[in-house]
Amino acid sequence: MNKLLIISVLFCTFAYTVCAQNIYNIVPNPVELKIRQGKFVFSKDTRILLPNDDPDLLHAAYALQERFLLTKAWYLKAEKPDADVKPGNDVVFKLNPEIKNREAYRLHISKNRIEVEAGAAAGFFYAMQTIRQLLPPEIERNQAPNSELSVPCAEIEDAPRYPYRGLLLDVCRHFSGVKEVKRYIDLLAFHKINTFHWHLTDDQGWRIEIKKYPKLSEISAWRDRTLIGRYTPSGRKYAQTRYGGYYTQEEIKNVIEYAKTKFVTIIPEIEMPGHAMAALAAYPELSCSGGPFEVAGHWGVFNDVYCPKEATFRFLEDVLSEVIDLFPGKYVHIGGDECPKIRWERCHHCQSKIRELGLKDEHELQSYFISRIEKFVNAKGRTVIGWDEILEGGLAANATVMSWRGMEGGVVAAKQGHDVIMTPTDFCYFDYYQSKNRDTEPLAIGGYLPLEKVYAFDPTPAGLTDSEAQHILGGQANLWTEYLAAPSAVEYMLFPRLAAMSEALWSRKERKNYSDFKRRLTGNIVKRYESLGLTYSTADMN
Ligand code: ACM
Ligand code: ZN
Repeated sequence: MNKLLIISVLFCTFAYTVCAQNIYNIVPNPVELKIRQGKFVFSKDTRILLPNDDPDLLHAAYALQERFLLTKAWYLKAEKPDADVKPGNDVVFKLNPEIKNREAYRLHISKNRIEVEAGAAAGFFYAMQTIRQLLPPEIERNQAPNSELSVPCAEIEDAPRYPYRGLLLDVCRHFSGVKEVKRYIDLLAFHKINTFHWHLTDDQGWRIEIKKYPKLSEISAWRDRTLIGRYTPSGRKYAQTRYGGYYTQEEIKNVIEYAKTKFVTIIPEIEMPGHAMAALAAYPELSCSGGPFEVAGHWGVFNDVYCPKEATFRFLEDVLSEVIDLFPGKYVHIGGDECPKIRWERCHHCQSKIRELGLKDEHELQSYFISRIEKFVNAKGRTVIGWDEILEGGLAANATVMSWRGMEGGVVAAKQGHDVIMTPTDFCYFDYYQSKNRDTEPLAIGGYLPLEKVYAFDPTPAGLTDSEAQHILGGQANLWTEYLAAPSAVEYMLFPRLAAMSEALWSRKERKNYSDFKRRLTGNIVKRYESLGLTYSTADMN
């Protein structure tokens, strides 16, 4: 070989490698990616061929169809082919019962066709999200891109590390309408996050219509004033504007149906026994003192909570019955966090209940409260999730624990054989600042959670046996909205940290590497944020 030839071969190899690196920027990183030469070019005649008429497969296919509809006005057919259809430039779904993980998939992208294997519709859906990330970022825009719509050839094998990958959105401190919630669900799906934890009730607002208790919509959904600026124990200033909103049951059903098409399960949270001021403003008889109360206009933890009397259980059971009728998922979150015991200590009713039940103290009374609600929820075939405070005074028999005050509560629960979702403040609280320099950041609750820290999140702590570790279902980012009044403020806190969270929950530990993640983030994901018109933080982008 002469010198010129050697140089040109070396150059081509180099150029191909660099180019290849630039176009295979998938987040979260798949289990295995083998780069192949060439590309598959989409045309308006590309079809998505389905193995059967399962509507969930149509939803999975739509994840890809939608991009071409919005950008090119191309309607790629998704259909079950007749036996005699000639093979063309198609995306072919193949059900493979040997792929046991419902969310796993294999992608074989060659020049002439794309073959997708999965054991269930969710796997096909995530394969479509991966193809989406291999298409040019302009595919996210609602206008025709000039670029060729092709994906580079590859063999991809992928499956999530954890079955539970969640985001909590607090719609109580500030309300998000149906349109915004659907957009967040779209963005969860894009990041392969499969659970939306909808924090529907709190001190500052009750956001779900309950037919049997209309005052929850008339009174509890609205506050007369809202704190201006940072919370201080005294000298607070308020905007004296009525603020609030709630979802009708029809809207809730509509959002649940929508989320299902994006393979996102919604977990409703109805807070008890604490964080109940909004409900108590409408139904003060459910408290220890009898009130009166107002829907809270500032943030924090409030001393007035539900009193564990029969009327309260009747109310909560009625509420949960309607909630369970609406939400088809396995879980109902019943809160359990930050419940001061001061009113219970001084309440004649609470004290006689403690004596009557032979309980040791108010913590055991809280445990009684949660266990009793749990029995009700279990009898309806559902499982409760509670914040880690539900460990205090004894954990309810079948509860799943959401560990937020560190991972310790989760470890204790896993060792007791309970399922656990890890969401420790240090790694998962997206209401924390994302830059050290607070002066350059919008007002936030405090803390410091940079991108790299989110990325380093590992929901399974060392020291658990294999069978204990099996109880760690996954993790979740929590977005509390005290200081997030507008959708752009919510987006700013979510992105790009949600991309880091998605890789922390989806990708194998050995596939994680922060500098490589940053390369894929800036080389691909951020470009998509731009195309989608998202607000995002650049604090950790350099
Ligand atoms: C919580 O942050 N109070 C669960
Ligand atoms: Zn009481």
